[in-house]
Amino acid sequence: MTTVTLVQGDITRQSVDAVVNAANSSLLGGGGVDGAIHRRGGPAILAECRALRASRYGRGLPTGQAVATTAGDLDARWVIHTVGPVFSPTEDRSALLVSCYRESLRVADGLGARTVAFPAVSTGVYRWPMDDAARIAVQTVRETETAVEEVRFVLFDERAFEAFAGQVHGHG
Ligand code: AR6
Repeated sequence: MTTVTLVQGDITRQSVDAVVNAANSSLLGGGGVDGAIHRRGGPAILAECRALRASRYGRGLPTGQAVATTAGDLDARWVIHTVGPVFSPTEDRSALLVSCYRESLRVADGLGARTVAFPAVSTGVYRWPMDDAARIAVQTVRETETAVEEVRFVLFDERAFEAFAGQVHGHG
């Protein structure tokens, strides 16, 4: 049984087994969550990302997939990098956003992670509307079979927190 919890705050400050990064295909860093994780986690994360690019993911990590590295100096043991879809007003890309959560949990299960913190993937630079992203995130986690005991959504601001709270408490 997976418990869904909500926190308003910074995902890099969470004491959990694994922190999910809203990465891009390059795996080489960026802004938002990605920038914060690499800044606070230190160079060990980027070193493993570069090694992944030189081996399994020569063309980059495809959208909707997930891969783990060390968490470097973070409290967590692992960072699970996933690539959300860029929101499109003309094309339904929600299956890719569903896939980010499913694949991240599958990777977490492979690692033996029991507590996993997720950001609101795709809702920043990738512009996915917050309410819809919250619905997809909460539904997908609830419907995915996993040994993860706690999924903690870490929302940066109050608006994001309220959107997720609406979904978790059934009035979203
Ligand atoms: N902790 C928790 N949430 C955060 C934090 C933080 N430290 N910082 C931002 N957020 P984004 P995306 C929120 O842009 O939309 C990067 O450049 C933010 O307010 O991090 O998937 C990557 O390299 C928003 O609600 O991820 C990619 O190129 C949410 O986290 C691209 O951005 C996600 O925002 C990925 O874009």
